[in-house]
Amino acid sequence: MFSFSSLELPIVGAPMAGGVSTPELAAAVSAAGGLGFVAGGYLSAESLAEQIQKTRALTDLPFGVNLFMPVTDEQLPSDADKQLTEFATALETVGQQLEAQLGEAKASVESEARVFDELIQVCVSQAVAVVTFTFGCPATELVRRLKDSGSLVGVTVTKPEDAVVAAQAGADFLCVQGPAAGGHQSTFSVSDELNQLPLLQLVAKIRSVCSLPLIAAGGIRTAAQVRELLDAGAVAVEIGTPLLLADEAGTSATQREVLQSLERETVLTRAFTGRFARAIKNSWAERYHETAPAIYPGVHEITAPLRRAAASTGEHEWTHIWAGEPYTGLAAGPAAKILRQIAPTTNSETD
Ligand SMILES: Cc1cc2nc3c(=O)[nH]c(=O)nc-3n(C[C@H](O)[C@H](O)[C@H](O)COP(=O)(O)O)c2cc1C
Repeated sequence: MFSFSSLELPIVGAPMAGGVSTPELAAAVSAAGGLGFVAGGYLSAESLAEQIQKTRALTDLPFGVNLFMPVTDEQLPSDADKQLTEFATALETVGQQLEAQLGEAKASVESEARVFDELIQVCVSQAVAVVTFTFGCPATELVRRLKDSGSLVGVTVTKPEDAVVAAQAGADFLCVQGPAAGGHQSTFSVSDELNQLPLLQLVAKIRSVCSLPLIAAGGIRTAAQVRELLDAGAVAVEIGTPLLLADEAGTSATQREVLQSLERETVLTRAFTGRFARAIKNSWAERYHETAPAIYPGVHEITAPLRRAAASTGEHEWTHIWAGEPYTGLAAGPAAKILRQIAPTTNSETD
């Protein structure tokens, strides 16, 4: 069974769904002494199996797979269809401007649950070393099934209450995600309010209610921060944004260009997908921040073709550029070099 104490560097390369995570990035992070991840979010079972096999072809070292928990009926408002129709109307002007058609809100609770079962089956049959869950906590039986197949099981939490739930379900460890993290916040319900505590305080608070190993994530950019979090009781840290410019990452040309040239604030907003996610502030975020309904994946599905069209033509004001706080001054180059820059040295104080 995998153990974080076996890592040469106490660093996890965050799963980054939507194309940023690649087998090359996962393998490079693991080869550098950290733990790489395959991002299973938005993938079919077939694609996940392919990503796992490609990663295994690149490394014999352990890596993790991250899955999104499916949304349940109770998380969505009873008038979700009406709210989505209204939001779609509000998006029409952007669609016309980008000459792109709005997507359809297709996923149902049943179809999401079916795909999720298939993804679990892939993880079990492939005996993946580490499996983590985002957007909720799996049932005890499911955690047990994965453990029996040899996986270490983690749950991403943003609040002490959720940490307690995950511990009760039998999780082996927790990813503690603070508010500075890039991308989606892993709240257990779409409608949940956000945690406001900065990462260091959140880790301390979760440490006080739960004895599981903790991986700290969100806004970690320096070795000094890593040391502080390890001192606060984390066994490792997880970095996402610092790997966006890694050679091995699948970050698009538009994303790379924006990350390196725009100096703006980031914002936590439901505007792009219906779930809170941290992105670089742009025209889309400003226009739809107040009005996007808390409906996921419905909002994600209707906005995705517009965001894709904008990204493909470099119109960064109308696509999502996930990034944690801060994102300026990121280093480009091999993932191994980026990891070494952030890893604390054992005997000196160089950052
Ligand atoms: C582009 C991008 C995509 C992400 N996708 C996922 C994902 O698929 N699953 C997940 O658990 N977290 C995802 N995250 C969040 C990371 O796991 C992690 O919490 C975050 O990157 C840490 O903060 P940092 O970006 O400031 O380093 C994503 C983050 C980014 C930047």
